[in-house]
Amino acid sequence: MENDKIRAGIMELRELMKSKDDDSYVSGQNQGLPQPPLAKENVSDKIIPLTDNFEHIIQNNDFLNILNTRTSKRKYTEESLTLDEVAFLLWATQGVKQVIGRQKKATMRTVPSAGARHPFETYLFINRVKGLEQGLYHYLALEHKLEYLGPVQDQADQVSKAYGGQVFLGNAPVAFVWTVIPYRTEWRYTINAQKYALLDAGHLCQNLYLASESIGCGACGIGAYEQPLADGLLGLDSKPSDAEDNEFVVYAAAVGKIDKSPEQI
Ligand SMILES: Cc1cc2nc3c(=O)[nH]c(=O)nc-3n(C[C@H](O)[C@H](O)[C@H](O)COP(=O)(O)O)c2cc1C
Repeated sequence: MENDKIRAGIMELRELMKSKDDDSYVSGQNQGLPQPPLAKENVSDKIIPLTDNFEHIIQNNDFLNILNTRTSKRKYTEESLTLDEVAFLLWATQGVKQVIGRQKKATMRTVPSAGARHPFETYLFINRVKGLEQGLYHYLALEHKLEYLGPVQDQADQVSKAYGGQVFLGNAPVAFVWTVIPYRTEWRYTINAQKYALLDAGHLCQNLYLASESIGCGACGIGAYEQPLADGLLGLDSKPSDAEDNEFVVYAAAVGKIDKSPEQI
């Protein structure tokens, strides 16, 4: 019986992967409802400007080599990242290249997104970045700046615990956490939006993998976490909600400098 229930649940969730007939749904956009904000605004006044000049950071420009050496790397050296390297990784994953449209605005970024909806926000748990205090940060993509949200008590332990006991993530120089605000995509795509947002999320992390390889770092995508704990660490509420600003964790990744000796890779 219990197995039948699980099976039924799996079959139901499988439908998420399929394209759905949305003819009977009138989207928020077609109802003339206001477009949700392109990105969250800052809540802190501790703002850190970021460079958009990355020439001096790139160590490896050989795309074929980057594709060949990319693996999920979970062992990092003690070396800190520089702020410019973090700026590059943020830009590579969510950087805004252009804002288009006079009224219905959209951001064109370094990653693709269905209908340029870009439903994500980026948070960083920082352990070792030169010149930055440890703690929680939020990327202001429209301004290409970081805001410091504050210290996190027992950060390494709390992060490890929330992400399935994965100690390497808690101890990583930088842990990326991506949240999704589903309504940004649902406003246009209603019942196909959830699938699109999950597809979009993959692009962020793939860019993080490739960008990390190009600057002597390694990354590892993280899909295993406890939703309430991971959301709680960001001050978000995991309870189901149809609020337009409903936001929750959808993906994460660890990043750090890697030892180039073959056995470490
Ligand atoms: C969506 C997704 C979730 C993942 N979650 C985890 C995770 O929670 N912990 C982990 O150690 N690796 C995780 N990985 C990394 C995979 O284990 C890894 O990509 C896979 O073993 C293939 O190895 P490669 O990336 O080195 O090619 C995840 C990868 C993806 C794409």
